[in-house]
Amino acid sequence: MIHHLHCTHLVFNIEPQERKIFELISKTADELEYPAYVVGGYVRDRLLGRPSKDVDIVCVGSGIRLAENVASHLRPIPRVAVYKRFGTAMLKHGDMEVEFVGARKESYRKDSRKPSVEEGTLEDDQNRRDFTINALAVSLNEKDYGAIMDPFNGLQHLEEKLIKTPLEPGQTFSDDPLRMMRAIRFATQLGFHIDDETYAAIGKYKDRIKIVSRERITVEMEKILAAHKPSIGFKLLFDTGLLELIFPEMTALHGVEYRNGKGHKDNFYHTLEVVDNLSKNTKNIWLRWAAVLHDIAKPPTKRFNPKQGWTFHGHEALGAAMVPRIFKRLRLPLDSKMKYVQKLVRLHLRPISLTKENITDSAIRRLLFDAGDDIEDLMMLCEADITSKNPRKVKRYLENYNLVRQRLEEVEEHDRIRNWQPPISGELIMNTFGISPSREVGVIKNAIREAILDGEIPNEYQAAFDYMVSKGQELGLEVAKIR
Ligand code: CTP
Repeated sequence: MIHHLHCTHLVFNIEPQERKIFELISKTADELEYPAYVVGGYVRDRLLGRPSKDVDIVCVGSGIRLAENVASHLRPIPRVAVYKRFGTAMLKHGDMEVEFVGARKESYRKDSRKPSVEEGTLEDDQNRRDFTINALAVSLNEKDYGAIMDPFNGLQHLEEKLIKTPLEPGQTFSDDPLRMMRAIRFATQLGFHIDDETYAAIGKYKDRIKIVSRERITVEMEKILAAHKPSIGFKLLFDTGLLELIFPEMTALHGVEYRNGKGHKDNFYHTLEVVDNLSKNTKNIWLRWAAVLHDIAKPPTKRFNPKQGWTFHGHEALGAAMVPRIFKRLRLPLDSKMKYVQKLVRLHLRPISLTKENITDSAIRRLLFDAGDDIEDLMMLCEADITSKNPRKVKRYLENYNLVRQRLEEVEEHDRIRNWQPPISGELIMNTFGISPSREVGVIKNAIREAILDGEIPNEYQAAFDYMVSKGQELGLEVAKIR
């Protein structure tokens, strides 16, 4: 249900800090004799009762001049960031960010690098926005303070939960093809549906997404992934044909093949279920990426074997190897975040293998060693990976994972493997045997680690030291007299 539909409420029923700044903009705009309005996302979110701290102001006049005059009345006087070429200015006040722009005839896009400054009226400006619900403007001038300018039935569409372009969709989309993704992103974030004509146009004009930068596409994809139920957006991307263009590895997961009457599950819908399951328990976007990518190498590793049926051997290792390429293409960071996603993809089958009987402590220690502090996230991913429709099976799988969790805890408490640091440094090995950096140092270090993981020796300094001495002697080294 929409809150504060009555227009004056919109401006008056807000926090004191916001009210003050609107009143100040109002006074300043009247002094300059500029018609001025709050527009776009802030109005939409306020009407939906969603929090919003980014305010966009459109005036018929110079946005920069209005911003500078407003700033001069604020205490402390904020710095105004002026983007002359684009005719925009921005100031921060408290936790609010207020952007000012003169009404324009050209397509409105905040992140555009195109200097497009042909002046226009408020209607011109509203015409060139992306969706009717984003084209609402609220007057700030004293004579009609709080009145909503709604030329495209945006208010009604908010009520109806509808995403619809203000103009013929082909025109709105050719102004900025990213808007096709924005339509899907808003539908996902807000739980709205896309108007039929607008939806059909996405299918028709999808190829135009190719002229949009990768960075902008990924921002939208990440907003979809960060939503409450990301599958809504991914399905829309798939059904409109956009996903094939921007992320073909993901569409390759789609489909079921049968041989000798045996089929495998549809890995696209399975992946979406895993992402949704996981999203109920975490906002961690990188963990969500791991869910998107966990089975990404199933298509290239798929084989049919008459005895075993369909197999996807090695999909976890190949999947991990695919992660850097995908991150690079999507312009996602190639740093520790990527390594984390890669690790989770690589390890996502390991906890399952620990649900078998007679699992040794050594196997548990090895998983703790490999997963480190990400063990909990890995377990969450594995639990989300259970998509069986049989409640008895789901219950059994979850119980099995609980047993794995218990073992992990016990072994960790005893052996402290999660943040394992070698108890014996390379330097100590060199000093002990009086040798310089060499292959032997690495061999001894590895042997100590393996002995600890295998439970041959405890994870302690003295035991590791003694082990080093015997290992060195096996290699023909002698303990130096002075250490
Ligand atoms: N806009 C547009 N076309 C775009 C991007 C933005 O018409 N490609 C307009 C819309 O009117 C939008 C406003 O610019 O409401 C502000 O854009 P932006 O800050 O990107 O989006 P918001 O609608 O504020 O939503 P969010 O903050 O969730 O991105």
